[in-house]
Amino acid sequence: MELNRRTVIAGAAAAGIAATTLGTGTAEAASGGRKPVKEPFGKLADGTKIYRWSLENGGTRLKVLNWGGVVQTLELPDRRGHYANVALGFDNIDDYVAKTPYFGALIGRYGNRIAKGQFTLDGKSYQLSVNDGVNSLHGGTQGFDKHVWDVEPFVKGSDVGLVLHYTSVDGEMGYPGTLKAKVTYTLTKRGEWIIDYQATTDKATVVNLTSHVYWNLAGEGSGTIEDHELTIPAGRYTPTDSGLIPTGELATVRGTPFDFRETKTIGRDIRAGHVQQVQAKGFDHNWVLDKGITAKPEHVATLRDPRSGRTLKIASDQPGLQFYSGNFLDGTLTGTGGRTYRQGDALCLETQHFPDSPNHSNFPSTVLRPGQVYRTRTVHTFDA
Ligand code: GLA
Repeated sequence: MELNRRTVIAGAAAAGIAATTLGTGTAEAASGGRKPVKEPFGKLADGTKIYRWSLENGGTRLKVLNWGGVVQTLELPDRRGHYANVALGFDNIDDYVAKTPYFGALIGRYGNRIAKGQFTLDGKSYQLSVNDGVNSLHGGTQGFDKHVWDVEPFVKGSDVGLVLHYTSVDGEMGYPGTLKAKVTYTLTKRGEWIIDYQATTDKATVVNLTSHVYWNLAGEGSGTIEDHELTIPAGRYTPTDSGLIPTGELATVRGTPFDFRETKTIGRDIRAGHVQQVQAKGFDHNWVLDKGITAKPEHVATLRDPRSGRTLKIASDQPGLQFYSGNFLDGTLTGTGGRTYRQGDALCLETQHFPDSPNHSNFPSTVLRPGQVYRTRTVHTFDA
């Protein structure tokens, strides 16, 4: 289902802006979307200037930083056209540098965990940067989320977007090969947000790029996501050890709190006492999607806030989905709206390969070799 045009225009009126700027009006469709707008967003300690880009199309509004490709805010209308920012974030660059738990960021070179930060490829052993107990998480201490990306805006037909580039040199965080990453954020005239990931390498390496938006469809800072309804078409998941490293087993979700094949609220089974949940302080697992790896993006999750009606559908070509129920948010961070984030105030749905794949030969491979092009797409469709 598409975002209803009348709803969007009602939302525009409520927000006091011209409906034509939202991209669903015919005038807009004929002339194409508006070029993203750039503004300063503070400086790093070494003086490097950080910028924020504002994009809008089809009723969806995004603000993106060149720091980590961070989606700082993502605004969507509810069923009455009232806008809310549905992504957790900070209002200043210092907090992003000092204390972000990956709010809205691009994650690389390897999304999720690699056990002890070690793996062997073509008979050679590699030691990665370790930053999560004994393990490597989200690329190590200075993952792709902690770098300045080159950002170019574009308008192409009725689409608007940004192309983000980051080059990770050979040996950075312990990974072999210089990896050239290119990520494209597109907003379509229907208000979809598409992420296209691309990467090439000059030596064999492992890659698993993803996006770490913390969703709260009732609005960031509005409270718990336990009443959000979630559907994940996956009959299996990858149980973990206490360090959240997969044991290698692909376990059935049948009869467990991990069964989201039929829509249920996140809160329904979050306190079920399953050993896997107790260990993770909630949900923090990789679901093995029934569809497997696909040529084109297919449905991997639907998230809905019943009160506002805001609905997010995610499609991906990847084999896995990490659903993280915001377990480590502990009331110590205050976000863009001036409200404090507590446990379960947001959730992440990270389209990805399975965690620790380089150490599990039964998991789909994450190896990228010179001459190959890593390509994956995630599509977010919004509705109310
Ligand atoms: C991922 C991990 C979680 C946690 C968050 C960031 O989603 O799976 O365990 O580390 O990132 O806090």
